[in-house]
Amino acid sequence: MGTLSKALCLLLLFCTLAVAAADVADTGGAPKYKDPKQPLGARIRDLMNRMTLQEKIGQMVQIERTVATPDVMKNYFIGSVLSGGGSVPAPKATPEAWVNMVNEIQKAALSTRLGIPMIYGIDAVHGHNNVYGATIFPHNVGLGVTRDPMLLKRIGEATALEVRATGIPYAFAPCIAVCRDPRWGRCYESYSEDYRIVQEMTEIIPGLQGDLPTERRGVPFVGGKSKVAACAKHFVGDGGTVRGIDENNTVIDSNGLFGIHMPGYYKAVNKGVATVMVSYSAVNDLRMHANKELVTGFLKDKLKFRGFVISDWQGIDRITNPPHLNYSYSVYAGISAGIDMIMVPYNYTEFIDKINNQINKNLIPMSRIDDAVKRILRIKFTMGLFEEPLADLTFANQLGSKEHRELAREAVRKSLVLLKNGKKGDNPLLPLPKKTGKILVAGTHADNLGYQCGGWTITWQGLDGNDLTIGTTILAAVKNTVAPTTQVVYNQNPDANFVKSGEFDYAIVVVGEPPYAEMYGDSTNLTISEPGPSTIGNVCGSMKCVVVVVSGRPVVMEPYVSTIDALVAAWLPGTEGQGVADALFGDYGFTGKLARTWFKSVNQLPMNVGDQHYDPLYPFGFGLTTQPAKL
Ligand code: GLC
Repeated sequence: MGTLSKALCLLLLFCTLAVAAADVADTGGAPKYKDPKQPLGARIRDLMNRMTLQEKIGQMVQIERTVATPDVMKNYFIGSVLSGGGSVPAPKATPEAWVNMVNEIQKAALSTRLGIPMIYGIDAVHGHNNVYGATIFPHNVGLGVTRDPMLLKRIGEATALEVRATGIPYAFAPCIAVCRDPRWGRCYESYSEDYRIVQEMTEIIPGLQGDLPTERRGVPFVGGKSKVAACAKHFVGDGGTVRGIDENNTVIDSNGLFGIHMPGYYKAVNKGVATVMVSYSAVNDLRMHANKELVTGFLKDKLKFRGFVISDWQGIDRITNPPHLNYSYSVYAGISAGIDMIMVPYNYTEFIDKINNQINKNLIPMSRIDDAVKRILRIKFTMGLFEEPLADLTFANQLGSKEHRELAREAVRKSLVLLKNGKKGDNPLLPLPKKTGKILVAGTHADNLGYQCGGWTITWQGLDGNDLTIGTTILAAVKNTVAPTTQVVYNQNPDANFVKSGEFDYAIVVVGEPPYAEMYGDSTNLTISEPGPSTIGNVCGSMKCVVVVVSGRPVVMEPYVSTIDALVAAWLPGTEGQGVADALFGDYGFTGKLARTWFKSVNQLPMNVGDQHYDPLYPFGFGLTTQPAKL
């Protein structure tokens, strides 16, 4: 190394030491940013003044856990790591395995020069759904039916505890999409077609994050180690795309955008949501990930959102079609739009190269970088991540706890909608008698925990079968509930002769949709999967039957309704199938009211409450009720 280079290095070293010494001097020891007694703003300023450009850029990068090695964390100053759907330390990993994995990554982040803790995020969207043994709550499509904000808050509290049981402080939930077309593969992630129900259900945010101190309305807040940072998603208009095509284009006027899809964000920001995730979709042909007017102009400047905005998974790549067509442009457009943290998740070196290049060329101003880093640090300071960056097993016993499963069972009960109860002139079929001779349970979804949980369960797309996690199938729930003398016969798809010769007193037929997530759930026909319709015909054509539909949305039922005696929409109830039996057998009454219009034919779609042409099979708000059976 030449003399000049040596001199420059020595000068740089001297300056660095001098700055560090000055800071230590005025706080009598620890740097100001490490002192929790210092005001939040002072800590942020102090830390930012110390950060190099590379350290700032690192805070804006979220990578997937499978590439988050200690060297990568240290060399690139990575500020965040996630588990993608189904990304787990090991199959059926224990809380201890999760905590150890998260802590290993955290220790690498803490070993960097400034020791800025990383924040680990995961999709806990209906309970801690990636994790074996976690309580899986009903998906949002069912929770909207409850119209019970306090129930949602309790679900948020329970979910936060189970997420923390695995050492994770950040959940990419709630989805506050307003699904306007059930052909959308993510409609089950939406609470309702009605924005007012979606607004009410944002009460899950204080459940997840903790109650905002009143004087802090609208300021990001995460109340300690039993709480997690939440994420309102996907901003904005994700549920309004053309024909419900996932990640497509929402063609809408200002009244529709701000009257239907935006109200949930007013509530979420007001309740102190820590983060907001941008939608893959476009609004009037402009990709949301490149939409500066809405991300910066409205969410940050108008709504005064002060948390951080995170991209979706490779969200900036999909600004172009095909994705990644021009990554330089994607980086420029996404960061310039106001996205603060980029869910990369793998090509972090490419992202870092591009953003460095654009800062050095003044294409992206440092003011934009500083805004992003300030927001990220604000959340990390606010949630106490600097004081307690490492997890422990304090909450391990919360995972799948009996109390949480009872809460989920209550949510299942309240999410059910009774659509029919007895044919014309007949007595109501429900509640079913517990004590009788012999009953038939049939259908593809009666004994299938994976089907009743749906997508985003253990894996991204969900699973078939009963080995995926711990729970109670609807068949098991029926067996738990009937009198010991009542014989329960299960046949997944009985033929008419079996039914006719069986001498059954009544039948419970559980059918519906297989699991799916995101674009894999997009449907143009919304039919229930075979042999569901055949099973309905074989069973209900020969005897008294109640059909329980397990689906992520209203599906084609009109052709079968006349054959069916009783019809229940169970949506995607999750692990606690006992909640279905609780209502079928009258331990609890049916109370649920549709939070979505149930169409007659897919040709009517999109069709939502309030539309001029409104001719549903069952209208928004419909639901029969029953009283608990007399003991
Ligand atoms: C997915 C989803 C988003 C999720 C993210 C991380 O593609 O769009 O809802 O939070 O990626 O898994």
